[in-house]
Amino acid sequence: MSKYALKQGVAIVTASNPPVNGLSRAVRQGLVQGLKQAQQDGAKSVVILGEGATFPAGADIKEFASGAWNDDPDLNQVFAQLDASDIPVVAAIHGNALGGGLETALSCNYRVALSSAKVGLPEVHLGILPGAGGTQRLPRVVGVEQALEMIGTGKPIGASVAHKLGIVDEIIEGKTADELLAGAIKFAESVSDKKPVPRISERTVEPVDDDVYVSARVKFAKIARGQEAPQKIVDAVRAAVESARFDAGLKEEARLFQELMDGSQSKAMQYMFFAERSCNKVPGIDSKKALEVKHVGVIGGGTMGRGIAMCFANKGIRVTLSETSEEALQGAKDAIEGLYKKSSAFRSGRMSEADVAARMELIEGTTDPEYKALAECDAVIEAVFENLDLKKKIFGQLGKICKESALLASNTSYLDIDEIAQASGRPEMFLGMHFFSPANVMPALENVRGSASSEVAIATAMNMGKRIGKTTMLAGNCFGFIGNRMFEPYTQAAIGLVEEGALPSQVDRVLGPQPGMFGMAMGPLAVLDLAGNDIGQRIRAESYYPHTAENVKGARGATGRLGQKTGAGWYKYEGRSASDDEAVNKLCDEHRENFGIPKRSNISDQEILERVLYPMINEGFRILEENIASRPSDIDVLYNAGYGFPRYRGGPMFYADLVGLDTVRDGLLRIHDANPELPHWHFQPAQLLEDLVASRTTLAEHWIQRLKSAK
Ligand code: 3HC
Ligand code: NAI
Repeated sequence: MSKYALKQGVAIVTASNPPVNGLSRAVRQGLVQGLKQAQQDGAKSVVILGEGATFPAGADIKEFASGAWNDDPDLNQVFAQLDASDIPVVAAIHGNALGGGLETALSCNYRVALSSAKVGLPEVHLGILPGAGGTQRLPRVVGVEQALEMIGTGKPIGASVAHKLGIVDEIIEGKTADELLAGAIKFAESVSDKKPVPRISERTVEPVDDDVYVSARVKFAKIARGQEAPQKIVDAVRAAVESARFDAGLKEEARLFQELMDGSQSKAMQYMFFAERSCNKVPGIDSKKALEVKHVGVIGGGTMGRGIAMCFANKGIRVTLSETSEEALQGAKDAIEGLYKKSSAFRSGRMSEADVAARMELIEGTTDPEYKALAECDAVIEAVFENLDLKKKIFGQLGKICKESALLASNTSYLDIDEIAQASGRPEMFLGMHFFSPANVMPALENVRGSASSEVAIATAMNMGKRIGKTTMLAGNCFGFIGNRMFEPYTQAAIGLVEEGALPSQVDRVLGPQPGMFGMAMGPLAVLDLAGNDIGQRIRAESYYPHTAENVKGARGATGRLGQKTGAGWYKYEGRSASDDEAVNKLCDEHRENFGIPKRSNISDQEILERVLYPMINEGFRILEENIASRPSDIDVLYNAGYGFPRYRGGPMFYADLVGLDTVRDGLLRIHDANPELPHWHFQPAQLLEDLVASRTTLAEHWIQRLKSAK
């Protein structure tokens, strides 16, 4: 809804729909009514603003799924009325004027803003384009090139840049919404007599060379691999230049918008928008119970410990890093400093020498085998070798010396959280905190609850993730938790295909980021080479996964070829550039001979896709059945943030609904029938999958029903 007031002859229309004043039907109606009321009251000008912390941050995305975003008055109808107003209308911007919010402002005659405000058209991140005049009005203000940059990347800009670009007419001094309103009223009074009333829709757009569109297309294809929206954004902006009239451009924009809205990418990306915002809210856990964390201990300064220490130092949190010797400790500190200095933030000047020094100052070291320097830490995260006995020994000692309220956490990839928790003597304060490599870069954090983890411990770990800016979700305890448990059948299937005769490059091409392919950030075999093939083998040797024996056979083919670090794995490497290696083919030939596997020369791309993805999805169903994940969307968020699953496909569980659960189930059975030697477990459809196929229910529908019946 919207509120209306008249002050000193200026009508004030306030959009109100907390928390971000999304332009729901009620808000749209309120804007139209406010405008009408202003006319009836003979107001000399109108100010439009948002209640609370922000100008409208866009269309109400919740209305997209129900279709209510299209109900009368739709945004285009509202903006047509704003555009036609004879009374000058001023948008007063604080917080975020994004998407439909900025389109509202661009439909007004003037725009003023607090210097702290941000404006932008981020629709591309939802798989759509600005569909209410944004692609037509913005180029009329900032020109084609800048409009393409803003709309195609979706990056918001600050008010002062917007002022320089002409989007904002005046920056209002002050910090608060009250100061903004006072300044906006003053501005509105100053323009109330100016005639004619300026309208962006009446401006023309300067044509540009074809090269501008071509280079935008090339850039977007690179930064938004596989996504349809950026390319249609180029079409829509071009229509602003080439349409004979403003209305015709709007019509073309609406057509392109609808095409995107009807496609699966926008549905996936809108689903991910809400999934990412819900994943750190754990059902049944009160986030207010989180304990404050001001000092973190990190045990182990290897690959993971270094990155984890950086995550906390980056947020001004004190870290004590433990290593086995002074030499190892110094090596870890030097490596951390090196990582800072190699970062793009440092190279681009966003991080100075002084910033690096301040962060290094926050990282203290200890080599005391009894960890006494960690006694007062609020949380201790262990990242030593993946060895159960070593971890148990360390936590046994920490249980003795750490303060009672300290959160104790292990970064283990696969080991049993409950067993380590017991060793600590205080399992209620124990959790897994599974970071991804490199921990200072990768956005995902998979926290793992043990059977005894307390609400306080879970809330604290979730809050730590939020504090350090990670996309954080909670898993239950099992082999590999959510992420690595699903990754196992995925990579095993990829290895199996190579055993049968596919080239590693073929498997990786089908799954990988090349145009027209599935779109994972990297193919599975390239990932294995990056992580190191020795890690996988060691993990399997030490795991308690019940199906280990039949899984290892493929990995053996690559023994001694540890991946990028040794210059050879599933590929051979020159620097970072990988190519297929005759030696791998020879190893596979030998392997086939030893195990009596016939060589196939005709493995299709479709077979690769199904054999690699379906067992992973199937494992996801088991994870849901066993309550290891609280909801399908947590799996999807983790797979995007931690494993590079394309966001525009919405994660493995969303993707399963998209291709059809019966297709997945039938595919699993078909593959298994054709390849009876493959691990039965991977291809035996999960009970939940079978049940949903039988009841013709999608996973999304099933989850909605489940939530309803839980209430
Ligand atoms: N519609 C509905 N709900 C929205 C929303 C929107 N546009 N934007 C945010 N929300 C909700 C979030 O889901 C979240 O709800 P929750 O508390 O129940 O989880 C709550 O508002 C707060 O959001 P954040 O946690 O993201 O809050 P932040 O303060 O971190 O960020 C923000 C605020 C920068 C505004 C961020 O929410 C954001 O980027 N929102 C989306 C902006 C956007 O994409 N706008 C374009 C919409 S599409 C459009 O306008 C189409 C038009 O062209 C036709
Ligand atoms: P690493 O081998 O690079 O580092 C381990 C470090 O721990 C070494 O520097 C070693 O000196 C130190 N260390 C060993 N015993 C110690 C002790 N008693 N006290 C203090 N320091 C000690 O190992 P990495 O790769 O960092 O892995 C650490 C943990 O993180 C493992 O449990 C692993 O499974 C997990 N993990 C690893 C990922 C990866 O990609 N490398 C990803 C996610 C989790």
